[in-house]
Amino acid sequence: MEAKIISGTKLREDILDEISEKTLELKEKFNRPPGLVTILIGNNPASVSYVSLKIKTAERVGFKEVQENLNEDVSENELIALIKKYNEDETIDGILVQLPLPKHINEERVLNAIDPDKDVDGFHPVNVGRLIIGKKVIFAPCTPAGIIEMIKRSGIDTNGAEVVVVGRSNIVGKPIANMMLQKNEGANSTVTIVHTATRDLKSHCMRADILIVAAGVPGLVKPEWVKKGACVIDVGVNRVGEKISEKTGKKIPVLKGDVDFDEIKKIAGWITPVPGGVGPMTIAMLMKNTLKSMIARVEKSSV
Ligand code: GUN
Repeated sequence: MEAKIISGTKLREDILDEISEKTLELKEKFNRPPGLVTILIGNNPASVSYVSLKIKTAERVGFKEVQENLNEDVSENELIALIKKYNEDETIDGILVQLPLPKHINEERVLNAIDPDKDVDGFHPVNVGRLIIGKKVIFAPCTPAGIIEMIKRSGIDTNGAEVVVVGRSNIVGKPIANMMLQKNEGANSTVTIVHTATRDLKSHCMRADILIVAAGVPGLVKPEWVKKGACVIDVGVNRVGEKISEKTGKKIPVLKGDVDFDEIKKIAGWITPVPGGVGPMTIAMLMKNTLKSMIARVEKSSV
């Protein structure tokens, strides 16, 4: 039997509908919607396309959306001053600085400048610390949070499961490994992280009940690396070429994941496609974090 395809596109719609409903309630009760500011520096094509999708989605759920598009040569101090302005803005609940930043800007200084209570990306060291300690009310980074939501909503048993994470990035590998480790619903697993220095990638992957691949290497995971019936989550979004869109007639990138989808879907129990898998969930979770941020803020101010 072929694997069940976990569609992020479908789950995203369910989650966005839930968020839109909650946004209407908040607006009625507190006279304002959740507010998100997206800060984009320069015109890296992937970043421009991610940010425009974030803006569209924020508008779709009824948030206030503020766009800051800065020139590639903006100084680090100017960027930090802008972040500080939004830290003080009562109508803004989430501040997102799209990464990567230009080389002359220190990413750590920039991320540290964001108020941890508005850090809807979950990249501030305070939020990373809270995540590792296992605090409940936190901004979990959006891609890992989306992965957990996909696993939970597919009814996959994670208790004591062997989870193998391929990749140790700060955005995906390290946080998802820590989240799957927590004694929580949709987690409580036995976790291994493998990376570029791992001696025998294949033997680790073969043990996985849940294989989460975030390596950024197109087609890295081969069918013989996957256990029958495993859940395979492909986080890779690799641009491997360009094609003309049938819908718009414009050039669009050809995307390929980190796993060999066509062959692995014959072996796995569940698999996420690329595109249409983890990607759409990431943006839905960004909206969820922004909503959570406003709820936390209004609750705090009413005590
Ligand atoms: N660049 C790639 N992924 C992300 C993300 O999740 N958030 C931000 N801010 N930048 C990114």
